[in-house]
Amino acid sequence: MSSDRKPHSGKFGLVPEGLPRHVAIIMDGNGRWAKKRLMNRVKGHERGTETVRMVVRATRDLGIPALTLYAFSTENWQRPKTEVAALMALLVRFLENEKAEMLENNIRLQTIGQTARLPQNVREALGATMGATAGNTGMVLNLALSYGGREEILMACRRLAEEALAGQISPEDITEDIFAGRLYTAGLPDPDIMIRTSGEMRVSNFLPWQLAYSEFFITPTLWPDFTQEEYIGILRDFQRRERRFGKTGDQTRE
Ligand code: IPE
Ligand code: IPE
Ligand code: MG
Repeated sequence: MSSDRKPHSGKFGLVPEGLPRHVAIIMDGNGRWAKKRLMNRVKGHERGTETVRMVVRATRDLGIPALTLYAFSTENWQRPKTEVAALMALLVRFLENEKAEMLENNIRLQTIGQTARLPQNVREALGATMGATAGNTGMVLNLALSYGGREEILMACRRLAEEALAGQISPEDITEDIFAGRLYTAGLPDPDIMIRTSGEMRVSNFLPWQLAYSEFFITPTLWPDFTQEEYIGILRDFQRRERRFGKTGDQTRE
């Protein structure tokens, strides 16, 4: 049985109405964190899992309805086999360890990406947790796994082309909403915030369609060192930003 924990409004000096509806994070810097300590890169990924737990909890506690975490990109398949295997094993362990807490906190697990490429044991663990949490309504935890943004856009194009060939849709009826509905993120609002740790000023094929008007926060902090305090600070900064969506500042404030 899942219970709905009441989100704390006004917590940490944040205005509840001004909270993002969707936070997306590029969790980067695990390898550098380990290297600095003369450790194996995998140790960095292990420590990174702790940050994931913190961010999931904080996001849920604040009542933010959706969190997307970039956990593994299509490009990451090119990494050494041993690192890929370690990441997959960590993912299975994370899913097993967190299932109870997701149920307790009314969190629904979803994925975006070519999950068919994942090893069978990972797909099974994902299937079990997604199935168990499917009815939860408190927050969506969306894991980007074997995710690539250009691939996602191509897939949507192929689907629409097939629908057009089958006579189910005509090209002039394809709107932004219809297109977005064919992406992996169908049903989720676009991220209001994109956070990238470890200082890289790039999007690395993460949500190119969906981030069109997101506010970017890039911090030099390596993912294993990212704290709740820094996360809250970013949310506070977000609340002070003026999102103009192409209008003038005066128009926006009207
Ligand atoms: C992010 O950390 C985790 C994944 C990409 C899976 P990295 O492993 O990219 O860490 P750096 O960039 O090498 O420090
Ligand atoms: C992006 O990080 C992917 C994830 C965080 C899962 P990378 O470390 O793979 O990005 P690049 O290669 O430095 O752009
Ligand atoms: Mg990296």
